[in-house]
Amino acid sequence: MNVRAIVLAAGKGTRMKSARAKVLHELCGRPMLWYVLHALAEAGVRDVTVVTNAEVAAHVDDLARSAGHDAVRAVLQEPQLGTGHAVSMALAALPEEAGTIVVLNGDMPLIDGALVRATLDAREQALALVTARMPLPSSFGRIVRDGPHVSRIVEARDASHEELLLDEMNAGLYAYDEKKLRAAVAELKNDNAQSEYYLTDTIGCLVARGDRIVPVVARDYRAVLGVNDRVELAAAAALINRRLCEHHMRAGVTIADPATTYLEPELVFGNDVTILPNTTIGRRSRVGAHSEIGPNSRLQNATIGENVVVSDSIVVDSSIGDFSYVGPWAHIRAGSAVGTGARIGNFVEVKKAQLAAGVKAGHLSYLGDATVGERTNIGAGTITCNYDGTKKNETTIGADVFIGSNSSLVAPVTLGDGSGTGAGTVVIRDVAPGERVVGNPARILPPKPAAETD
Ligand code: UD1
Ligand code: MG
Repeated sequence: MNVRAIVLAAGKGTRMKSARAKVLHELCGRPMLWYVLHALAEAGVRDVTVVTNAEVAAHVDDLARSAGHDAVRAVLQEPQLGTGHAVSMALAALPEEAGTIVVLNGDMPLIDGALVRATLDAREQALALVTARMPLPSSFGRIVRDGPHVSRIVEARDASHEELLLDEMNAGLYAYDEKKLRAAVAELKNDNAQSEYYLTDTIGCLVARGDRIVPVVARDYRAVLGVNDRVELAAAAALINRRLCEHHMRAGVTIADPATTYLEPELVFGNDVTILPNTTIGRRSRVGAHSEIGPNSRLQNATIGENVVVSDSIVVDSSIGDFSYVGPWAHIRAGSAVGTGARIGNFVEVKKAQLAAGVKAGHLSYLGDATVGERTNIGAGTITCNYDGTKKNETTIGADVFIGSNSSLVAPVTLGDGSGTGAGTVVIRDVAPGERVVGNPARILPPKPAAETD
């Protein structure tokens, strides 16, 4: 069957009271429109036209690609005269073909591919549309039935008192026979409360022509909630987050408190990962088996190895090796790699630094633009002074180095393998392998006398 989709995403979103287009508002790290495009990709619908306004048009290609489409067609709707007008604009841009057209609102981020498929499968004749029973009051369009048959949809703003008591709603997902859709849209009028061309009026029009509408009743109304204001945005985000948490819990992740754990789609967790409260994990992070993240932590585009602990800390655009311990209160910033079995402790900031296996930086340090060799110990209060006022400079520290507390390493500078600094040293020149330096500016200490033996 030839299937094409039209996504309605041009609306002003007035109720959001925002400078940003409604469908670009994010829930769980993805814009609303991403979820709708993702559901279409899941359902295998590849020919997609998105009706946009100018702002959404600028983002549509990137969003479509990240949601699993090679490309989508964007049709600009300016001005926005209603959902029926939006569909007619899209149809004008599409060559006429026999087949099915899925139409769906861009503001229903809870939808999934299975419901799109079920709607497609249900279309026999002119139209299958998704309905759901919902608690009242509701701003959704009401499904008016004549006995068992759907006869029309009345928008809440145009509904009578009796119609507002109907609790079967129009979800905003339809599968139309293309030819019938074109004919019905051509007949739409805007004589309603909002002076808009309502797509929903096509239902009454098709019924008047003798067509039968197939209702697909959603099992859970929460799968089709629309987002029209920021209250609904937060409610939808909480539902998506809960779904993501449940998915990972069922796959073997312990989440101590799903209500304060904030996830995104497309995260990867190993077996027996534990997530403690007040933790946000996003931007394609991966966490290896048996690691524990949280409480009070944030991972963004982080690659965490196995058996790692990240406690009360932030890791952004960086990786942490197996058996390492980060925190509490550490900040691992972009471009850093922490090796196996490392220990990054309280109030340590690491930026664009490569720390080899077994490095210890336990307290109050800044390691930026630095390379640190295996097993090196960074004393409390050590700072890599990487910025000279105009540019950033590198600090290179070898393996098995002992940096005394409160050392300042003025970059660019290199400390060789097995070297060391005393407490409070200000290192302004390179230190040779095995050499020990102290003071400000650092001076070389004589080699340690050999231990007396008798
Ligand atoms: C719409 C339905 C309503 C249904 C509800 C489900 C109509 C007339 N009403 O109401 O029956 O219960 O969705 O959530 O369709 N849009 C455009 N161009 C426009 C106007 C809207 O692209 O000119 C887009 C919006 O960006 C949005 C979608 O269409 O993604 C729906 O529009 P919205 O204004 O949110 O309609 P609702 O009042 O929610
Ligand atoms: Mg809406």
